[in-house]
Amino acid sequence: RLSEKSKGHLRELLLLNEVDSTNTQLLARMEEGDGHAVAMLAERQSAGRGRRGRNWISPYGTGVSLSVGWEFSGGVQSLEGLSLAVGVALARALERFSVPDVRLKWPNDIWCRGSKLAGVLLELKGDLTDRCAVVIGIGLNSGLRIETATKIDQPWADLQQVCPGIPRNHLVAAILDELLLLLHEYPQRGFSAHRDAWTKLDQFAGQPVILQAGSQVWTGIAAGVDDKGALILDMDGELKHFHGGEISLRGQ
Ligand code: BTN
Repeated sequence: RLSEKSKGHLRELLLLNEVDSTNTQLLARMEEGDGHAVAMLAERQSAGRGRRGRNWISPYGTGVSLSVGWEFSGGVQSLEGLSLAVGVALARALERFSVPDVRLKWPNDIWCRGSKLAGVLLELKGDLTDRCAVVIGIGLNSGLRIETATKIDQPWADLQQVCPGIPRNHLVAAILDELLLLLHEYPQRGFSAHRDAWTKLDQFAGQPVILQAGSQVWTGIAAGVDDKGALILDMDGELKHFHGGEISLRGQ
């Protein structure tokens, strides 16, 4: 059940048994001008997509596959840092169920006890100055079976194991609640309103990390994020700011 406030921000909630990818479907609706304030939850995705061209494996009963489409009037620069703020919204939703040890890994992974619990794929449409649309896809692991788990190419966490017994639909309602309030307020408040909350949950703060974009690699100490959500890397005293996109981060 959504709170009255966030219910007012949602136009349509689509519940699908099977879909190729909830992000792909909502992006198509965005193009037709019919995706604003629409959420789509699927029981299974046959072609789920992750960041940087990866697959996101999502068979029946293995977690949450959810996307929300939203339109903004201010151009894409007003959405700077949004993907990090979505991480904060997800962490808040998990906190409602007292899920322990939730952390954020820049730019937008949700970690739990040192492994990835959920990922966010944010896709934008539109231009720099005028209206733009965003589709926010959220994939969260819960109840992974061994045949799925063995296909995942990074350390993963599973909500059923960390905190058993949370009803999936209650969790989805909490995620939508947090997300809709965030999206509604974001153009006015921007990332700076969420920076402190993000910083408190920063998995790698003060730790040595490696950043990679294609064949380029940078090493240094993770020194938090700036007001736009860029990662600050301390490279022997020189502070360099990195903006999301295709960059990946890992511990050293
Ligand atoms: C990542 O960490 O690489 C992001 C994963 C995002 C997966 C979700 S599942 C719902 C939505 N539909 C997709 O095809 N991808 C996102």
